[in-house]
Amino acid sequence: MSAPPKTVIATTPDEEAAIRVAVRNADVSKIHPACVRAAEAHVPALVDLLADPRVSGPIYDLPRPITTETVSEWVRDAQAKNERGECLLTVTPDREGRLITYSRFTIWPARTAAEIAGAYRADAQSAGLGKAGAANSFDWMFNELGVKLICVTAALDNERSARVIEAAGFRPMGEREGVRPDGSTRPSRYWEMTREEWDRRRRLA
Ligand SMILES: CC(C)(COP(=O)(O)OP(=O)(O)OC[C@H]1O[C@@H](n2cnc3c(N)ncnc32)[C@H](O)[C@@H]1OP(=O)(O)O)[C@@H](O)C(=O)NCCC(=O)NCCS
Repeated sequence: MSAPPKTVIATTPDEEAAIRVAVRNADVSKIHPACVRAAEAHVPALVDLLADPRVSGPIYDLPRPITTETVSEWVRDAQAKNERGECLLTVTPDREGRLITYSRFTIWPARTAAEIAGAYRADAQSAGLGKAGAANSFDWMFNELGVKLICVTAALDNERSARVIEAAGFRPMGEREGVRPDGSTRPSRYWEMTREEWDRRRRLA
């Protein structure tokens, strides 16, 4: 279960409502032209992607075990939360319909904050896609969802994630316990970045 960020940014009811509308109507093709919202039709491809421990192993908030039933329920849960403006689950299929990557955005509209978790197919990892794709996604989260803060976590030994996150300019803020769907916990490294920090970095780039 994703936990809201350590930093609390107050919002007005109008700002909160605007974020909920933005999440419901978000144009995910701006992340990547092939990126779409996950639907029931993607469940077999999601099972195929997530059954690979090189893909799902480092991610604590996925359903376990990975089966058609658990992944279907996970997709439905994301759709229900999207209706409330609190979640977005996306997939990027290749030409054969196999998924190259998935992303799950958790949004806390009352905190003007969001988190992203995701993974690339094993044969697409370590080729530079993650670093470029993450930067696109962070930009999209600030601009399309309208949040002012993004938080991210990674397993203590997930060096690739840490590199992707710190290359984008996130501030390390220690560790936190991630709670898995079964209630067990996983220690994670934790980072945050504000929209001002991201915009300043982009201006200087
Ligand atoms: C984490 C993940 C998204 C990163 O994307 P990626 O496309 O594989 O990473 P990149 O190729 O962009 O490389 C990112 C950095 O890690 C480095 N790297 C690549 N392979 C590495 C490896 N095996 N060990 C350590 N560092 C590695 C790269 O050199 C690069 O750093 P640099 O730019 O400072 O040189 C991807 O590997 C993945 O999906 N992993 C499985 C799931 C996962 O861990 N998800 C994230 C949960 S927070």
